[in-house]
Amino acid sequence: MKETFAHKKVLVTGHTGFKGSWMTTLLTHLGAEVVGYALSPATSPDLHSIIGEKQCAKSVIGDVRDIEKLRATILDFQPDFIFHLAAQPIVRTSYAIPIDTFDINVMGTANVLEAMRSLEKRCVAVMITTDKVYQNNETGQAYKETDPFGGYDPYSASKAAAEIVIDSYRNSFFNVANYSQHLKSVASARAGNVIGGGDWAADRLVPDIVRALVAGSDVSIRNPKAVRPWQHVLEPLTGYLLLAKKMSENPLDYNEGYNFGPYPADVATVGEMAEMALDIWGTGKLVFPEQVNQPHEAGLLRLDIEKAEKCLHWTPRWKARKALEMTLKWYRAYYAGDDMLAFTLKQIEEYLS
Ligand SMILES: NC(=O)c1ccc[n+]([C@@H]2O[C@H](COP(=O)([O-])OP(=O)(O)OC[C@H]3O[C@@H](n4cnc5c(N)ncnc54)[C@H](O)[C@@H]3O)[C@@H](O)[C@H]2O)c1
Repeated sequence: MKETFAHKKVLVTGHTGFKGSWMTTLLTHLGAEVVGYALSPATSPDLHSIIGEKQCAKSVIGDVRDIEKLRATILDFQPDFIFHLAAQPIVRTSYAIPIDTFDINVMGTANVLEAMRSLEKRCVAVMITTDKVYQNNETGQAYKETDPFGGYDPYSASKAAAEIVIDSYRNSFFNVANYSQHLKSVASARAGNVIGGGDWAADRLVPDIVRALVAGSDVSIRNPKAVRPWQHVLEPLTGYLLLAKKMSENPLDYNEGYNFGPYPADVATVGEMAEMALDIWGTGKLVFPEQVNQPHEAGLLRLDIEKAEKCLHWTPRWKARKALEMTLKWYRAYYAGDDMLAFTLKQIEEYLS
């Protein structure tokens, strides 16, 4: 990884968010020069200010819907790699602001790809979508990359639509048959439910649990029976890096979609994860308020990861319990006032070793 990314220019959109802050820290640790493009941090506390900010060579605060600013940032920086993470990423929020969700997730993705067309150099891009891009028939099957796209809620539909936009740009403008003219390789990455230290987003299981535990309140669980592919944030991020590395070595191969999820044994219900979290934390009480008139959220989500295993030789490293332990350790250290950049780098080292 160091050979691929050291001294390379990497643009990360969404660098002020949870995954973007980990990504920036990981890439800088590998020796890359990172420029970020995103809105200002939206949570309080926020991981960007805690660890990510000092890791960026430059942080551009901009909207992915502003194609001129985005294009100017890309042309000015001349990145070797782009990781597009900026998005409205919350299912429940997508019911409140569907138009913004479609605008940011679909047009934002199109804008990144369109801006890349102006770049007259080699560039590898990994566009981050989600496990929720597949038409979910709630049968419990593990979705493969070849399964049809769909989307019940606006978030899932917007990410499925983004996949179609990515494929259209790949066929129309970044076709492998004309690689020598455009010099671009573009893939998409679909990860499962990600956990890790420093996420304070609303309506996500671990942040909700940590907020309640730190406040000494009961931990309220919405959909205890919902099944999700849980994984530590470093799992998909190293998958994205590995995919980009493979594309930089073989720019004509790998320009496709890839799933990154846990092994089937680490697919667990929300209730199981919540119980495990309280067991690790050592205190707390779960409550299950009756859910009336709540927006629909998928009941069953599983990902087939055979393609990433076979083609990229990527495999998950941490089981669900280990992922949760590392996550809760991170929050404990944060609330104890530790140096969180050093702590995060220690977790990255432990993962990579
Ligand atoms: N966290 C998960 O469990 C998970 C799972 C699968 C996929 N993903 C995907 O990973 C990516 C990162 O998710 P996250 O969990 O870090 O979310 P996050 O909310 O922590 O971060 C989102 C980032 O996108 C930026 N952003 C939002 N709207 C923007 C706009 N209009 N213009 C520019 N930047 C904008 C924010 O400023 C922030 O930097 C998203 O694409 C999300 O859909 C996340």
